[in-house]
Amino acid sequence: MEDNTKIGMNRTGMQMSPVEGPSQAQFALSQPPSSEGGASALSEVRAQYVAQSLRVGSVPLPGTGKGVLATTVDKIKGKNPEVLINKLGQRLAFERSGVRLYQALITKVEASGHIRRAELRTDLLHICSEEAAHFHLLTGVMENLGADPTAQTPCADVSAVASLGLLQVITDPRTTIAQSLEAILTAELTDNACWELLCDLAAESGHGDLVQLFQQAVQSEAEHLVLIKKWLREMVLSEAA
Ligand SMILES: [Fe+2]
Repeated sequence: MEDNTKIGMNRTGMQMSPVEGPSQAQFALSQPPSSEGGASALSEVRAQYVAQSLRVGSVPLPGTGKGVLATTVDKIKGKNPEVLINKLGQRLAFERSGVRLYQALITKVEASGHIRRAELRTDLLHICSEEAAHFHLLTGVMENLGADPTAQTPCADVSAVASLGLLQVITDPRTTIAQSLEAILTAELTDNACWELLCDLAAESGHGDLVQLFQQAVQSEAEHLVLIKKWLREMVLSEAA
């Protein structure tokens, strides 16, 4: 696998065609729009859809039987406990996907001829195991609250859609380690911010016991961020040197 930025026959820029490029730009300017309307008409239509549409999924009722529900209601505090369940389900799904992202990146690193691949692999394996531990932590928390950790909550669904591009970048065999690290960086930045939010939400909902658990996750996520930024920086700078 090639792991360097290469100069090649890239024809996407207009400078490749000094004569036709400007004339094409001139032609585009002289043509009327292909359909009626403009940006404000587009906004109006979008606003109509926003007003009429339903939300993405729903948070499932905790438990199934009446007895289960009664105990669960007692366990889940806060005025709107579904908000906490929604966000717990989201983090759980994100951590599970995070494991898959790291597994794909580790395979890429192993297949590469990078000079420091052994050290990078060790760091990535360490982070991957912590993402898996976070997944198990959240599974336990949701089960304790009587919520279903296997349910896809609305925020989990939205997160999965937002992460699709990251998975595509990392599993593309043509992308370099640095390009894949940058995709993982996006995931880690989100993970950091969202664990902090989950801590605040747990505190706000009266789940002080969870805050302590979640703060440990915040700490390890902060370390992931430092490690990924360090490796990305090293890869890009060493390539440029
Ligand atoms: Fe992480």
